[in-house]
Amino acid sequence: MIGNSIKIFDELESTNDFVKMNVSNLEHGTIIVAKSQTLGRGRRDNIWVSKVGNLYFSIILKDDVDRQSIFKYIVVSSLAIVRSLKVFNIAVSIKYPNDCLVAGKKISGILIESLGSTKLDYMIIGIGININQIKFDELSDKATSIKLLTKMDINIENVLDEFVRNYNEILNMDFNEVFNMYLSYSMVINKKIIYHGEEYIISNIEKDGTIIIKNEVSEHRVSYNEISLKEFY
Ligand code: BTN
Repeated sequence: MIGNSIKIFDELESTNDFVKMNVSNLEHGTIIVAKSQTLGRGRRDNIWVSKVGNLYFSIILKDDVDRQSIFKYIVVSSLAIVRSLKVFNIAVSIKYPNDCLVAGKKISGILIESLGSTKLDYMIIGIGININQIKFDELSDKATSIKLLTKMDINIENVLDEFVRNYNEILNMDFNEVFNMYLSYSMVINKKIIYHGEEYIISNIEKDGTIIIKNEVSEHRVSYNEISLKEFY
């Protein structure tokens, strides 16, 4: 269960970094929100531009976390985002492993960080959801927001409440059912992928996040850590 404690800051460098620095004082499930971030980070060392108007938050997980369960939390978080945006009549698809897209444009991203080897000390789920931003400059053909899609001003805290409600609900469901739901929103099966310079088709995703890729010559099992979204097309 998450969200028993939610702390909101006007500005932080990065909500993930705040959690990392204060980990021993934060209870399992605490959510740290920043109205803006000065050093927001995305996956693979990208910058996550974080001006006022969108939702930026991190969840700290301390109980029941091991390396094996990272993909489970990716699945639960992405589905919670999908469901929270459905409220606005926005149909989101999930680009493996955890990008949320609307008509090919990114509306949300997840950055999971952890400490520990097999049994983790903690896991941080950092989430950015584009809410009221209407100008994306050079990213305008790659990013979108709830406001751009609905033409409405959106209350950011309502989106967070909706996320927390959905996350807790999904976490209590049977994982087989949850995973099938994830697959139904995933746009990756049968897509082409470049892996070590060769072209493959993705034939399946397994419950631990491994993807099976095939071409006429060979088949490989690849972990979600090894794949960059840039390699899809
Ligand atoms: C991505 O798609 O590259 C992941 C983006 C994750 C951004 C969020 S915003 C809240 C949290 N704090 C950060 O510095 N990053 C994550």
